Amino acid sequence: MLFRNKKSVPELDKRNIPAHIAVIMDGNGRWAQKRGLPRTAGHSAGSETFQRVAEYLSDLGVQYFTVYAFSTENWKRPPEEVGEIMRLLEKYLHKAIREMRERNIRLRFFGDLSPLSDGMKALIEEANAISETTSGMLVNVCLNYGGRAELTRAARLIAEDCKAGKLSPEDITEDMISRRLYSNGIPDPDLMIRPGGEVRLSNFLLWQNAYTEFYFTDVLWPDMDERQFDLAIAAFQQRKRRYGGI
Ligand code: FPP
Repeated sequence: MLFRNKKSVPELDKRNIPAHIAVIMDGNGRWAQKRGLPRTAGHSAGSETFQRVAEYLSDLGVQYFTVYAFSTENWKRPPEEVGEIMRLLEKYLHKAIREMRERNIRLRFFGDLSPLSDGMKALIEEANAISETTSGMLVNVCLNYGGRAELTRAARLIAEDCKAGKLSPEDITEDMISRRLYSNGIPDPDLMIRPGGEVRLSNFLLWQNAYTEFYFTDVLWPDMDERQFDLAIAAFQQRKRRYGGI
């Protein structure tokens, strides 16, 4: 692996590796601009980083890795940039489909996939089918995803059940909401990492991040490496999680 220097990283406690890590892959555009390159070059570098990091986290024993690849708001970007992100996702899907069995990873997609091209939809179906046969780390790619849209969808599904007489409003539980989210069956993130210097959630996993530990860094996403992830996990291991208790 091509990761840079591993100096000065605290030794990780291998018994306390977060089961679920979520990442907002931010800073691709600025990474490219700093180098006098078009923003799309930043997304391309970001896609490489995503694949290297996924491999590293799988080796560490992380069980779930969720990334924010494209938000419901990202359609507002220039069409060339949207097109390039979709092209990179498609390229990744082709590669993943070839390698998922060997690497023993599973893939799942969170978001409204209906506006995607037929080609992308077919690739996603293929990746979903392979995921039935593999058992390793589950990579969740948030694509045309927004936390509010996800919760709105869950509210609609519950309202339909109420309308059909299958459910009474007073019987609605938190668990029923969780089960109607894209993350159904997946434990909530233990650690959410946001590189790129912004300190906000940007509509990412609003329900699931209720008790998640947050780690923010100024490092831009394409520059995130093994060492940066070790630093984030080491910080997580210092935290005392109380879940509202004392
Ligand atoms: C945010 O950086 C990044 C995105 C909106 C796109 C992320 C997409 C990829 C890394 C490529 C494809 C993904 C996969 C999973 C193969 P930004 O553009 O907002 O950066 P900036 O804040 O510096 O402008």
